[in-house]
Amino acid sequence: MKIAVAGTGYVGLVTGVALAEIGHNVTCVDIDEKKLEVMRNGISPIYEEGLEELMKKNKERLTYTSNYKEAYKDADVIIIGVGTPERKDGSANLDYVFGVSKQIAESLEKDCVVVVKSTVPIGTNDEVEKYINENVKDGILVHVASNPEFLAQGTAVRDTLHASRIVIGTENKEAEEILKKMYEPLTKEPYNVPLLATNRRSAEMIKYASNDFLALKISYINEIANLCDALGANVEDVSKGMGLDSRIGNKFLNAGIGYGGSCFPKDTKALHFLSVQKGVELKTVKACIEVNESQKTVLFRKLKNDIKDLNGKTIAVLGLTFKPGTDDLREAPSIYNIELLLDAGANIKAYDPISIESFKKKISYKLEDDGVTGTITYFDNIDNAIMNADAVLIMTEWPEIKNYDLSKYEELMNNALIYDGRNCYKLSDIANYNISYKSIGRAYHSKSIPKIKKKLHN
Ligand code: UDX
Repeated sequence: MKIAVAGTGYVGLVTGVALAEIGHNVTCVDIDEKKLEVMRNGISPIYEEGLEELMKKNKERLTYTSNYKEAYKDADVIIIGVGTPERKDGSANLDYVFGVSKQIAESLEKDCVVVVKSTVPIGTNDEVEKYINENVKDGILVHVASNPEFLAQGTAVRDTLHASRIVIGTENKEAEEILKKMYEPLTKEPYNVPLLATNRRSAEMIKYASNDFLALKISYINEIANLCDALGANVEDVSKGMGLDSRIGNKFLNAGIGYGGSCFPKDTKALHFLSVQKGVELKTVKACIEVNESQKTVLFRKLKNDIKDLNGKTIAVLGLTFKPGTDDLREAPSIYNIELLLDAGANIKAYDPISIESFKKKISYKLEDDGVTGTITYFDNIDNAIMNADAVLIMTEWPEIKNYDLSKYEELMNNALIYDGRNCYKLSDIANYNISYKSIGRAYHSKSIPKIKKKLHN
């Protein structure tokens, strides 16, 4: 089967490489020539476990090009995997999806199935099909199918090959059969991925409803955690106790500093926007968005409550990405907390194992702001980042942070005061050190032994 994939981001590239792995010839299309050259050399432009190995292994079946006409003209299946970023009003921006649809219409020389893999508002597939068929050469017929992806960043390759499900939404039996054939190697041994065939609007809705449900689960446990803080309960045990009920399940019940990334924030807003537009507002999703907005700066508020004047204080921030295992900074809580710290005049020492360079670009606009008196310096090791710090904020549960020797906080900081947004450490371990420790929804541990070591040295 000849397959073309539009877009080489997390969705497009991983999909293309996975389809090559199961035996298809895949042409990956992108406009960025530099990126294409990198991929032609077998290098992945994104940090994703296992991806580069599969790119190298399947290089005979993978082509990377900006020549969309060549790629699309005789493809059996064209997969649209471009971004659908959030607009200011919360709605999904479909410019890239329709940009690709235009290119497809211009290029096609035979009938084809166009698959929309990008997360798009319910009804978009209908519009894409209408648009392409109205603009393609006479005599050519295109069927559009919805085929959402459910991959999480960091585990994208595994999530694609060993997917929880493949959802295909079509209005045409022939298109459904073509896609079933395309995915056949995944629905059989050894992968045995379940496949659900439905209509297009239901497939589009499955994607949003799934993501919004997961986001709801996180906002719910974060609210419970805040209440645990106020009432002296331990949210970790509460999550464990809840998760033992198989109807609830034990996943996605980790309290923290809110969800970030490229999906949950935009997908909750987009579905809420759509529901308001249709006059059936999703009130639970609205609440979920509000809880997350507040939760992402909960660490800053805890810090500010303890250190009223942050001006000139040295604050270490450990972890910048929105979660471990990815270099992605989109909607990362670290950004919002660092903005507040800079406004308050703090001197930030930031650590991340892989995302320092991209973070520098991301935050540069803030540092150009005349009103900002705080500073930020970067470190690729935790020791140097926490050295002489007045407090530490933990933003991402990287293994390097989780496995960090707790005695170092005591040894290297001015004052071992830790705000852990990811509940990285066991309270019983913290109790062995002269550390003040505040986490999410768990008891506050205050250091009991006065810190006199520094004075003794002087
Ligand atoms: C998510 C979905 O998991 C995936 O199915 C969908 O296709 C795209 O969106 P991703 O954004 O890569 O994937 O990350 P995920 O691992 O789901 O985490 C999202 C956010 O939720 C992160 O900020 C993470 O820290 C947070 N989270 C997750 C929690 O705060 N608590 C949890 O228990 C789980």
